[in-house]
Amino acid sequence: MGKPFVYVTRKVPEHCLGELREFAEVEMWHEEEIPVDRETLLAKAKDATGLITMLSDKVNAELMDAAPNLKVIANLAVGFDNIDVEGATARGIVVSNTPNVLTDTTADLTFSLLMATARRIPEAVNYVREGQWKNWGPLLMAGTDIHHKTIGIVGMGRIGATVAKRATGFDMEILYHNRSRKPEAEAELGATYVSFDELIEKSDYVVCLAPLTPETKELFDLAAFRKMKDSAIFINASRGAVVKEDDLQQALDEKEIAAAGLDVFLNEPIGADHPLLKYDNVVALPHIGSASVETREEMTRLVGRHCANVIVGRKPEYIVNESVWKG
Ligand code: GLV
Ligand code: GLV
Repeated sequence: MGKPFVYVTRKVPEHCLGELREFAEVEMWHEEEIPVDRETLLAKAKDATGLITMLSDKVNAELMDAAPNLKVIANLAVGFDNIDVEGATARGIVVSNTPNVLTDTTADLTFSLLMATARRIPEAVNYVREGQWKNWGPLLMAGTDIHHKTIGIVGMGRIGATVAKRATGFDMEILYHNRSRKPEAEAELGATYVSFDELIEKSDYVVCLAPLTPETKELFDLAAFRKMKDSAIFINASRGAVVKEDDLQQALDEKEIAAAGLDVFLNEPIGADHPLLKYDNVVALPHIGSASVETREEMTRLVGRHCANVIVGRKPEYIVNESVWKG
């Protein structure tokens, strides 16, 4: 018998899967930025004991049914809304994700996006590059202050709390809304729990870090944007589907909010013709929350370990569907 087969749906740093290779035959799709085509994926899944998947892969019944030997789906992301977890559980397949290792990196990006949007950094960079800087003026590229303002964090998980920690360094007042209260965040970071409505009404920066669930889907609609201050800046680093994009556009048109910084979109990737890109006060990024070399390598090692663990019958470190583990 050969070693169990693990297929990786994207080119990832090869050297990070060394450990997994001791336990499995590993093959990966050869492209870093082009996803594996569905036909190839379904064919590879046929023999796979493990799949290392990306947040852009739709892991549904069709894929799982094509993989009769599948024991583990290790998703290279903290979010797992791309996976039919119930379907995996019903089939006895372990689903794992990569929390913790990306928390600081994602919080750094979220705060960078907030700062870039508030201080109009991309606009200012383009202004210089395009040779428009002919004179200096007192209000040239004037943005909005960050320090001493109120930040409202929707989704106070690990990443939310780590963004709050960064906000303390800017003397910000911190509000948060979450499914459950977070006494540690209140004690250690001085964060105040408020209702969703109070948060969006009072915050200068409304920052979404909540996972995509039926409760958070389209949470940010026109009614929500209308409740925000006209000067509010909306930052989304969770999932595009928490926002009704048409409503965000209308809110920007009607100046219900001042600006938006978006790392995520409803249908990714977006093209240059995406309607939200026509606004100077929208800063758009290509879903790079956890994209530092160090963190992506750590995430890759982690998904490799998850697969190796399941193969040898050991419980992986981060399992999404606990109930499937009979160990
Ligand atoms: C990125 O969005 C992730 O879920 O890791
Ligand atoms: C991620 O680790 C989160 O819980 O926000």
